[in-house]
Amino acid sequence: MRVSGTIRVPGDKSISHRSLILAAMADGESIIHGILDSEDVRSTAAVLRALGVQIPEFSERIAVKGRGLRGLRAPRASLDCGNSGTTTRLMAGVVAAHPFSARFVGDASLTRRPMKRIAEPLTYMGAQFEFEHGDGLPMTVRGVDLRSVDWNTGGASAQVKSAILLAGLTAGVEVRVTEKSLSRDHTERMLRAMGVDVENDKNQVCLRPAKRLDPLEIKVPADPSSAAFFVALASLAAEGELVLTDVCLNPTRTGFFAALRRMGANVQEKKQTTSAGEDIGSVRVKPAQLRSTRITGELVPSLIDELPLLACLAAAAAVDLEITGAAELRVKESDRINTVVQNLRAVGAEAEELPDGMRVRPCSQKLSGTIDPRGDHRIAMAFGILGAATGNGITVKDPQCVAVSYPRFWEDLRRVVAA
Ligand code: S3P
Repeated sequence: MRVSGTIRVPGDKSISHRSLILAAMADGESIIHGILDSEDVRSTAAVLRALGVQIPEFSERIAVKGRGLRGLRAPRASLDCGNSGTTTRLMAGVVAAHPFSARFVGDASLTRRPMKRIAEPLTYMGAQFEFEHGDGLPMTVRGVDLRSVDWNTGGASAQVKSAILLAGLTAGVEVRVTEKSLSRDHTERMLRAMGVDVENDKNQVCLRPAKRLDPLEIKVPADPSSAAFFVALASLAAEGELVLTDVCLNPTRTGFFAALRRMGANVQEKKQTTSAGEDIGSVRVKPAQLRSTRITGELVPSLIDELPLLACLAAAAAVDLEITGAAELRVKESDRINTVVQNLRAVGAEAEELPDGMRVRPCSQKLSGTIDPRGDHRIAMAFGILGAATGNGITVKDPQCVAVSYPRFWEDLRRVVAA
């Protein structure tokens, strides 16, 4: 297989969610260029609209009139977060500091995902949470005047950290969050760009009360998690070169590129500009002979969403891969340890589950067959890359589930390989 050309993947999902939420809470009009138009980000827009914010239809440039801190209105119906954990957890933090209640609902996958991790710190701050079954949605949040908190999350989750930061921001109280290792820090960077006093010190972050949020003009960079699919493909190619442009190069997000380099890949990052505190640049990839690797706990947060892809890459390259310290994968859009291992086996690869990760072993068999991503966008795309790289015909059931983060993935894949 040969790859060639230049590709600009769609806007970063994490930054797109945050730009809408923070723009909605600013004093004045924010301009967002290049927002990701995908189902997840549409869920955030829909939730904000239900809370009284005017969010225009998505286009290349959108203007959002902020309602100020604590300016949201009580919703008339349940807030439907679709498939999006980020929408639910970040918006729960915002609602917790408003004087009304809101009931959060979502699709079958989101309904199974754990919410106590945000309910605990927000309850400690004074909000009230009601669950209808166990730890998942539907969940009702009753907002109040919150108090300050100094919270240790015990793990590394940007959604939990951001829920607490947004609650503190909205309530006008100081909050401090300590993590095991630093999770993606887009919320902190964007808040600083909007004039808030937020300080990061290694894996600890402290937000001081702000009177207002300045409006923002932001260019959403290309999503490194979406770029990762093509970086993997180009590394596995027989010949050619691929350049990914305009990619967010925030170090809390580029762990996959670093892991590939440790496997012998030819992946070069070049910073070119910044927007809203984020480094943006190009990633140039050439095919290379890959070798075995091991991913352990401390590396996990910087490539958590890319681990299914890494497993498919190892299977395609016929190298050993061991991932540990990644039990979080079990509570993503699907149980990604089980989904990846079952599907790798379904196409003839050698893979086994570990309680907190997985092992993939080299195998000489031709990989082909049908896989079921269980509605999980990143699994569908990871196996799409495995199929394109081996050229053996791997059929992905329900290919349209990619619309959650990358609606035109299959078109872009065809273009890069055929070019
Ligand atoms: C995200 C944080 C990560 C990541 C998810 C997006 C975010 O989840 O897996 O895709 O935008 O904050 P956790 O915070 O649960 O690690």
